[in-house]
Amino acid sequence: MPQQAGRLEGKVAVLTGAASGIGEGTARRFVAEGARVVVADIQEEKGLRVAKSLGDAARFVRTDVTQESDIAGAVDTAVAEFGQLDVMVNNAGIVGAVGSIVETSAEAFDATMAVLARAVFLGIKHAGRVMLPRRSGSIVSIASTAGVQGGLGPHVYTMAKHGVVGLTKSAASEFARRGIRVNAVAPGNTVTAMTADVVAGDPDDRDAVTETITTMSPLRIPGLPEDIAAAILYLASDEARYVTGQTLVVDAGQTSGSGGPVPFHRQGAEVIREAGRRGIDD
Ligand SMILES: NC(=O)c1ccc[n+]([C@@H]2O[C@H](COP(=O)([O-])OP(=O)(O)OC[C@H]3O[C@@H](n4cnc5c(N)ncnc54)[C@H](O)[C@@H]3O)[C@@H](O)[C@H]2O)c1
Repeated sequence: MPQQAGRLEGKVAVLTGAASGIGEGTARRFVAEGARVVVADIQEEKGLRVAKSLGDAARFVRTDVTQESDIAGAVDTAVAEFGQLDVMVNNAGIVGAVGSIVETSAEAFDATMAVLARAVFLGIKHAGRVMLPRRSGSIVSIASTAGVQGGLGPHVYTMAKHGVVGLTKSAASEFARRGIRVNAVAPGNTVTAMTADVVAGDPDDRDAVTETITTMSPLRIPGLPEDIAAAILYLASDEARYVTGQTLVVDAGQTSGSGGPVPFHRQGAEVIREAGRRGIDD
């Protein structure tokens, strides 16, 4: 993948869920592009390892995104350690409640929404708190293809991710005239611990999930954290200065119908079809 160095030179970012998967890949890409980052995750050992491998450009803050004070703390760490906050990536996630709606408890619903929806609201709130006085910043939240279409994930997950898409538009409408952009990325199937666990029952089974995702991908390649990181980077950077309120779907064409096969597209079938002129009674 061609990379142009320094697309986030001098910027400071907080990334939730950056101990693993898409968040980790994005933290690594951000640092490679000149940013300094706060790795904010509930997994202490993995988060510390990721931050350590990024050297002086990274700090780890143990963050449970279901706790507002933890999100506020991660944002405040960015300002205290690196002087400012330019980019907020609301990425932490779980699959959450699965199963039939009629069997889903209100408690499981609340616990899932706390991570996937409420935390995104709080991430935007606290990023806004420090970005608004500077009239500058970019917020990117991670939705999902399950946030733009039904039938691709569990019920509560689908509801939460649609909520992320909606809140992205709503927050963008408040912040636009105050210099802050708010966007989302909606990944399709991506090779991470989350999908490995769903596919193989083992978050470390990279081979099984890579094979499954490749088979499902209209482009016949597996989605990798790096593919999602590239989209997050674009929206985070000044190259997207004219873009706000959008959800960028990165899914190998799955939700745009690229899965095919579509009979009209057969080679050698060129013809203009206009049956309507004949009508159903002819
Ligand atoms: N992998 C996919 O196919 C896919 C597709 C669409 C959307 N997503 C979304 O991408 C995001 C990242 O997921 P991933 O696939 O990289 O999974 P992952 O499991 O590799 O990473 C998720 C990270 O979030 C952290 N996390 C979970 N609960 C937390 C909490 N309460 N507080 C702080 N951190 C917490 C985990 O510790 C982990 O490091 C999620 O929002 C997920 O819904 C993933």
